[in-house]
Amino acid sequence: MIKDYRSDFPILKRQIHGKRLAYLDSAGTSQVSKFVLDAVYDFETNHRANVHRGVHTLSEEASEMYEAARLKVSKFIGAVIPSEIVFTSGATESINIAAFSWGVHNLKKDDIVLVSEIEHHSNFVPWQEVCRMTGSQIKYIPIDNNGDLDIKNTNVDWSKVKLVAFTQVSNVIGRVNEVKDIAKNIKKAVGENQMPKILVDGSQAVSHLPVNVQSFGIDFYAFSGHKMYGPMGIGVLWIKRDIFKELRPVKFGGGMINEATYEKSTFAQMPEFLEAGTPNVSGAVGLGFACDYINQIGIENIIKHDTILMDCALNKLREDKDIIIYGSPNSSLIAFNVKNIPSHDLASVLDTCGVAVRSGHHCVMPWHKKQDVTTTARLSFGIYSDFSDIDQLILGISKAKGIFL
Ligand SMILES: Cc1ncc(COP(=O)(O)O)c(C=O)c1O
Repeated sequence: MIKDYRSDFPILKRQIHGKRLAYLDSAGTSQVSKFVLDAVYDFETNHRANVHRGVHTLSEEASEMYEAARLKVSKFIGAVIPSEIVFTSGATESINIAAFSWGVHNLKKDDIVLVSEIEHHSNFVPWQEVCRMTGSQIKYIPIDNNGDLDIKNTNVDWSKVKLVAFTQVSNVIGRVNEVKDIAKNIKKAVGENQMPKILVDGSQAVSHLPVNVQSFGIDFYAFSGHKMYGPMGIGVLWIKRDIFKELRPVKFGGGMINEATYEKSTFAQMPEFLEAGTPNVSGAVGLGFACDYINQIGIENIIKHDTILMDCALNKLREDKDIIIYGSPNSSLIAFNVKNIPSHDLASVLDTCGVAVRSGHHCVMPWHKKQDVTTTARLSFGIYSDFSDIDQLILGISKAKGIFL
């Protein structure tokens, strides 16, 4: 039995091609809960003003709500202090800020940036660019048959590794990387050398697994609001306060200044230091409510919900010998193909059945090339997913087979 959360998500009342909506693309973007929508509506209708820039009532209310959201997020991921939380437009911007605020100013020629070979483009393309600018080299951590990071067999001169970046949950194979253990293994591999900085991409994890950045033993943690029942266009970069002194701003202008003269300017403290310009205040407020929503449900209940649905989906998909499942998924998403049906064709037929799945390379092109597959279909669960979604998917797959095979 699983609890029914579908009614918390107004969009799920929609019909697609006259069919019940089976939304199985939560790893792409989750749907937004009505509690978040109400909070955003309340901000926009009753409190909207710019933050940190005025003494009038609305400006003070907006500033308070923005900082209250920062506090909620900091507690949600176990930050030490709220100023470790930088609001961004999403995980992509978060990782770019880490790359251009820390990477460009701290990496040198011949240093190594080590990234897993199954990262989203957002977690290796910025590092490729930083390496090009600094003369550092980018190297890759191999993935074993299960989809786990193979730190032991990473052939690299660890004394030169200055940053390791990897995802907590793969957005293609749905495999969980145990961050704490990986950080320990990195420490072992490094030996007497200085520990590199560690960045974790939490995009696929933060609404499915417990996150405590302090206990992880890492330096940066990035994620997006729109994959955790929150608004689009808001995200977070957590930066451990011990490394604030190693950062430089990446955007310059209003909101990040301590004092400005015609000759030169000095900058505000963190987090304003990295938040130039008018922020996405309603997005931040909504994100705070998304954290509340997840807390209310309880991450243990979310894990149970994911586990039950994953077992059911994997069993049903495995019954069909024409279906190939990639890796050993153990979180909330599954990449698969039906033999001889291109994933876009499959996804189009599924759409006619009201089933939304993602198809393509999921922004992990090199890994797909390495497997010698051009694209995969991906189903992914949210808290509103249920057994009917899986039944609808399986029916849709039979329909596609009837058409194409
Ligand atoms: C693992 C991972 N990292 C990064 C991103 C990029 O997130 P965004 O597009 O919200 O910046 C995604 C989005 O699909 C993702 O799945």
